[in-house]
Amino acid sequence: MMDGPFIPGDDFVLFAGTANPALAEAVARELGVPLGGCRIEHFPDGELSVRLLESVRRKEVYVIQPTAPPVNDMLVELLAFADACRRSAAARVTAVVPYFGYARADRRRRREPITASMVAALMQTAGIDHVLSVDLHTPQIEGFFQIPVDSLSAVGPICDALAGTLPADLAVVSPDAGRVKSATEFAHRLGAPLAIIMKRRESGTHTEVTHLVGEVRGRACLIVDDMISTGGTLVSSIHALREAGAREFYIAATHGLLVGDACERLQEAGVTRVVVTDTVRVPQREWSALRVVSLAPLLAEAIRRMVHRESVSEMG
Ligand code: R5P
Repeated sequence: MMDGPFIPGDDFVLFAGTANPALAEAVARELGVPLGGCRIEHFPDGELSVRLLESVRRKEVYVIQPTAPPVNDMLVELLAFADACRRSAAARVTAVVPYFGYARADRRRRREPITASMVAALMQTAGIDHVLSVDLHTPQIEGFFQIPVDSLSAVGPICDALAGTLPADLAVVSPDAGRVKSATEFAHRLGAPLAIIMKRRESGTHTEVTHLVGEVRGRACLIVDDMISTGGTLVSSIHALREAGAREFYIAATHGLLVGDACERLQEAGVTRVVVTDTVRVPQREWSALRVVSLAPLLAEAIRRMVHRESVSEMG
């Protein structure tokens, strides 16, 4: 629910890219506005064409487009949208990118690019003036931009969805060092102790647990992460926790990419429940353990505040 009425002026337009139309429609419904008309096509050679079907001259434009798989296509589509808006004299372009692809390429490793920084540069060059995202993989990604970036937290909506469904003897587990801050917030909200796993990434699909800090014996564990891609991180976390005597496993992650056989891997690992949000289009699966929480109300409230010049960072 929004904190107040949304009263858009004539100068407000909300567009949806093709990455997650269901989320864009849900945000539009929350705001009580129609989605702007546009035509997105692929030519036979794979090139993309974006055409705005309405004027954006001097308007405040919002484009909802997570850069989710296929990441490169969705990214180029967002850039093309921004370029079309800029060349059509939009007053301001805000990219609503609930999931920011390439966020994990956020530091220099030997002879590798910092792709997240390159993506930030591309977005600005294309004409994006402001970025609204959710649970950015690391806060330093904001520093790759010279424009304002607001990153919302999904901890509140996920905790609300989990309320009353978790056992009393719960421990919240961070599956790596990078997730300790948000795991601490989950633990605080749920009134549960915290355990921390340290991992080493061996490849894109395989991680090794090196340490486990905290008491999990006999407990149910809620493992929290920003994203589930292949599920490798969570499966190796579950193995380590089971070896340490944990008895049941719950998962909460903001971005449910669930690529390939991730759902099957988690199912085989014996997960009781997986809660993800709709920042990306979650693959349709017949799996009763999987629950998707919509962030449309959160995103709509953030857009309402931006349009009404209210603080987004105070949303908590
Ligand atoms: C890593 O730092 C991230 O926070 C996730 O833990 C990881 O990227 C998830 O990927 P996968 O599901 O493929 O292990």
